[in-house]
Amino acid sequence: MGKSYPTVSENYQKSIEKARRKLRGLIAEKQCAPLMLRLAWHSAGTFDCTSKTGGPFGTMKHQAELAHGANNGLVIAVRLLEPIKEQFPEITYADFYQLAGVVAVEVTGGPEVPFHPGREDKPEPPQEGRLPDATKGCDHLRDVFIKQMGLTDQDIVALSGGHTLGRCHKDRSGFEGAWTTNPLVFDNTYFKELLSGEKEGLLQLPSDKALLSDPVFRPLVEKYAADEDAFFADYAEAHLKLSELGFADA
Ligand code: HEM
Repeated sequence: MGKSYPTVSENYQKSIEKARRKLRGLIAEKQCAPLMLRLAWHSAGTFDCTSKTGGPFGTMKHQAELAHGANNGLVIAVRLLEPIKEQFPEITYADFYQLAGVVAVEVTGGPEVPFHPGREDKPEPPQEGRLPDATKGCDHLRDVFIKQMGLTDQDIVALSGGHTLGRCHKDRSGFEGAWTTNPLVFDNTYFKELLSGEKEGLLQLPSDKALLSDPVFRPLVEKYAADEDAFFADYAEAHLKLSELGFADA
């Protein structure tokens, strides 16, 4: 699928670079990289390739979308970002939330995900119910990531590695605990822990464990656990696709 990116002004590009620096500072100060990555992913992951609705178009700022059950806690991310966003009124929320996602991965030691500006803010949040359900298995993951979003098997496993950052909060999702012992570092520990089985103090969601039982997913989990460079390369490609669902399609 070829992309044809819109041209943005030199001033807009400069604002993006300034905002990128401010975001690095905020994320370091508040240690909120995991929440910023979840914000970017939940913004983009609502894309439906059939109706071409949802996706990374800034709608998460609306109360209606923040109120979706899957988005519990993301109001904190939106509020943390607001003082920086106010300094850059020319930047769209759509670009800003996706920029926060790529900066979160970068500053925690993950791969550099390319960022192309020019997304527009859409007026209407998508309907509820498009993000994956953590209690379900591989068929459901494929329904959401492949049929709805238009991504691939490889993207599913690579992107699941996003759970190398952060943790679950009982009051947000009903689950509690982190996937790794270093939840503020972006590395391939998620895959190593997944393969080594349940451990006291760490958590694996049913949707994480499901990756182990699938003949296509499991070899990728094993590859990423053994080879961090391979994980980073596939993750960067998948994150880039995620962040541009429905954007700049030729
Ligand atoms: C594969 C399907 C997925 C399911 C079912 C799922 C489910 C969840 C759940 C239940 C939580 C806990 C939320 C909370 O209680 O605070 C969570 C957190 C998180 N998810 Fe996912 N997720 C999925 C995919 C992804 C993807 C693709 C990414 C990013 C590439 C991602 C990044 C994160 C991060 C960074 C957190 C931690 C947030 C924090 O620490 O506040 N997840 N996810």
